[in-house]
Amino acid sequence: PRVMVLFGGRSGEHPISCLTAASVLRAIDRDRYDVVPVGITRSGEWVLADDDPDRWLLTAGGLPEVAAGGGEVVLPLAVGRRGLRVLEPAQPPRELGEVDVVMPLLHGPFGEDGTLQGLLDLADVRYVGAGVLASAVGMDKHYMKLVLQGHGIPVGPFTVVLPGQWERDRDEVTARVAELGLPLFVKPARAGSSLGISRVDDLADLPAAMSAAHEHDPKVVIEAGIVGREIECAVLGGRSGERARASLPGEIVVAPDAHAFYDFEAKYLDEAHVDLRCPADLPDDVVEQVRDLAVRTFEAVGGEGLSRVDVFVTGDGDVVVNEINTMPGFTPFSMFPRMWAASGIDYPALVDELIQLALH
Ligand code: DAL
Ligand code: MG
Repeated sequence: PRVMVLFGGRSGEHPISCLTAASVLRAIDRDRYDVVPVGITRSGEWVLADDDPDRWLLTAGGLPEVAAGGGEVVLPLAVGRRGLRVLEPAQPPRELGEVDVVMPLLHGPFGEDGTLQGLLDLADVRYVGAGVLASAVGMDKHYMKLVLQGHGIPVGPFTVVLPGQWERDRDEVTARVAELGLPLFVKPARAGSSLGISRVDDLADLPAAMSAAHEHDPKVVIEAGIVGREIECAVLGGRSGERARASLPGEIVVAPDAHAFYDFEAKYLDEAHVDLRCPADLPDDVVEQVRDLAVRTFEAVGGEGLSRVDVFVTGDGDVVVNEINTMPGFTPFSMFPRMWAASGIDYPALVDELIQLALH
């Protein structure tokens, strides 16, 4: 089958998507799959991308990026900020043939949020991962929490600051937020990789945190900090009507003097101060509780293909769901592939399984 590996994109997680693609381009079985790598630039142009995984790695020069004009435009459309522009190819287009399945390895808005999935549905092409609704719910931390609560899944205390509310009435918002206690986590409702997230230990820092979140989204979700261990669990969709499968959980331990929380830098740029323990050292009953909640969370949002469910395990052994990511990172630093490796599915087999799930 011909597989379009699609990456980059318009969100702040563009470079993380490139890192994810680098690993997938390296691992995909070239004897089985004919790979068409396509990058989406930050402004939304789709270009035929370099097939060499090394081009998309983290370098001393910084994070990788799909360059505008760096390749040939392969779609007669640029799905960008300036509307739907139809591009007339300068030369007769090179026929790349039809694609059997797309791997939309995109993180964040315009990739992981259902918009791209809608485009692929319109094109009637199969793709890896969640559909429109699950993607949209998984991207929006406000609706994600409502859906999980509606399914009786434990989530932590939170409040939502709707677009314009902060500007209209800071006192009302501050009073509401104060009830959550400290510390707080102030998050753009729709972003990923901790972009725009601040930890607030003093309410005087709330305005700065709101500004940081507003750079990514006019809607903000504020969560009460939960004292507990940061545990993650990977989910794969079920084969032929069977229930989804959960991996062994992993644990993230961040050196507290290096980072206030598991922020962007800790996630991708600072291996030294982050310990990914896989599998997590947890009592058997807690492991089972985490895996059960991960599958229930996946089902609650209507997940397909893959997800990573992030939870907290409190001192009392309670499990609280923090969030679901419908296209979790696949970088060499990422928990999703590590958790599956610890559960008996290595990286190449995982890539293969994801494509097969999409094809069947
Ligand atoms: N949003 C990042 C890529 C993750 O969840 O892994
Ligand atoms: Mg996320």
